[in-house]
Amino acid sequence: MSAQPLSSSNDKVTVRTLLRKKRRGEPITMLTAYDYPSAVAVDRAGVDVILVGDSLGMVVLGYDTTLPVTMDEMLHHAKAVARGARRALLVGDMPFLSYQVSDTEAVRNAGRFLQEGGMDAVKLEGGRERLSTIRAVLRAGIPVMGHLGLTPQSVHQLGGFRAQATTAQAAARLVEDALRLQDAGVFALVLEAVPDEVAQAVTERLEIPTIGIGAGPHCDGQVLVYHDLLGLYDRFVPRFVKQYARLHQVIHDALRAYVADVTARRFPGPEHRRGMKPEQLAAFRAWLQQGAEAAGLGGTGSAAAEEAGHGP
Ligand code: KIV
Repeated sequence: MSAQPLSSSNDKVTVRTLLRKKRRGEPITMLTAYDYPSAVAVDRAGVDVILVGDSLGMVVLGYDTTLPVTMDEMLHHAKAVARGARRALLVGDMPFLSYQVSDTEAVRNAGRFLQEGGMDAVKLEGGRERLSTIRAVLRAGIPVMGHLGLTPQSVHQLGGFRAQATTAQAAARLVEDALRLQDAGVFALVLEAVPDEVAQAVTERLEIPTIGIGAGPHCDGQVLVYHDLLGLYDRFVPRFVKQYARLHQVIHDALRAYVADVTARRFPGPEHRRGMKPEQLAAFRAWLQQGAEAAGLGGTGSAAAEEAGHGP
């Protein structure tokens, strides 16, 4: 299989690339990744934006929500993703309490994503209540992506993982929030779990791109969680997810086959074994029967060190 991106260009994606795509009406692709192999795979597939999402709390770390995820955990994963990706724009998702306490803390934590995590930008959740924080992070020279609609860090306030902006009033408020975030300077906006019509209204009114997840076909781009797309997360599949594979089942079948092979002594087979050279085997067998002196092997300590590459 080709290791080349599907995209026509190998150039590094920047925030300007995304704005250009919106103006040209070219769809933007975004996916999450959380480690080196997923970053390599997503980047090679030609995805424009890789989000190191705090969804890692649920799909990688096994929590019920994203709330327990810490800055240090995010950075640990961000660094691995940065080592694997070459072309995609890398966005670090600011975890719960990394930006809500004060603008100063927000700037410091956003800066850590760039300085330590190798990210190009950060994402944070919320509307009008986040404007001063967003402006502070932008003043530090850090590009910010917004996130409206279902904002999982507010899951308890929202009463669960449920669709947002479903009433006229809530929809109007979301459109206003989107315009305010754009005025504040965000370079793109994630819209999560909102009606198609609301996402369309926002997309038509904004000059910056909208990236939808459970927000219908009218957004400028789409984002999915890596584990959802590949069918790796077995707890539940949100209705808006298209599973392009069922890797959970593939992995289960492979692991069961391994257990069966070892149990039946089919693994390792001849093709997996490594034997000794005949003269070494003969000497070893002599040693087993007669002991070191008689077999002419001398002391075994230095031989072991030599084999391991630590010998003289
Ligand atoms: O954390 C995440 O993966 C996200 C996406 C769902 C947009 O915020």
